[in-house]
Amino acid sequence: MGRPAWQAGRSRLVCSCLVCSGVAPPGSGAGIDRGASVRLVLVGPPGAGKGTQAQFVAAHFAIPKISTGDIFRTNVSQGTSLGLSAKRYMDAGDLVPDEITVAMVRDRLAEPDASDGFVFDGFPRNVRQAEILDGILADLGTKLDLVLELVADDEEVIRRLSGRRTCRTCGHIWHSDFDPSSREGFCDHCGGELFQRDDDLPNTIRHRLDVYGEQTAPLVAFYAERGILVGIDATGLVDDITDRAIDALRHLDG
Ligand code: AP5
Repeated sequence: MGRPAWQAGRSRLVCSCLVCSGVAPPGSGAGIDRGASVRLVLVGPPGAGKGTQAQFVAAHFAIPKISTGDIFRTNVSQGTSLGLSAKRYMDAGDLVPDEITVAMVRDRLAEPDASDGFVFDGFPRNVRQAEILDGILADLGTKLDLVLELVADDEEVIRRLSGRRTCRTCGHIWHSDFDPSSREGFCDHCGGELFQRDDDLPNTIRHRLDVYGEQTAPLVAFYAERGILVGIDATGLVDDITDRAIDALRHLDG
């Protein structure tokens, strides 16, 4: 099967997972070494493509992608106490309480690979988390460089989330219509089993969008007032969106 329309046109970055694409080994956060030290946040509604684009931004700057959703999901699948605490909120499409999330982020930022920069995917999720993040970074003697807003409307993100399928083994993100694997239910890259996220069911998607509007969208004004917000159109081909993202961040290149 040929590549879907939203990925067609170029061979670069066809795979949306760093492991499968060979950009980086699992968990390394490593990519093209540009010597840049940048601290970024991606903000946008569920399904805007934060996870997809964060991988490419991370590879561009050779910084780790830190996805609070991924960390929670790993803990859920491993049955840790953190996972057990987070699961019921995630399944319902609600935010995990700030005290749980912030403690987890504080620990993650203390890891050596985050000392030279990072891109957050899914954090902060409300103004309180943003203020706490400012404090954590101030304690570390640093601050955010830029917040990239991925702009996509509800109709588009609902279509994306409804068809999302993720590989249990390598984490590659597929889509049942836009980017189907050739063998239904299995990953073309590693043969792993594909699964649908529990929070990608129709009612939960709608609730997540409501939660985004009420709790997360105010971050756009919060960061705009600080002069560090840039918005990009997050519709169209994945590669084109990546180009827009990298262009918006170009001045941060080392
Ligand atoms: P999280 O994992 O962060 O989910 P989310 O923000 O709802 O975002 P998604 O991962 O659903 O979407 P995305 O924007 O990353 O899109 P993706 O690239 O995958 O959070 C999950 C839960 O964890 C929360 O509900 C909450 O409970 C908890 N949580 C996490 N962080 C928290 C925090 N800070 N505080 C409190 N609780 C927290 O793309 C989606 C689909 O679209 C894929 O199938 C992809 O292939 C496809 N796609 C991507 N780009 C395109 C394109 N250009 N065209 C067509 N399809 C595309």
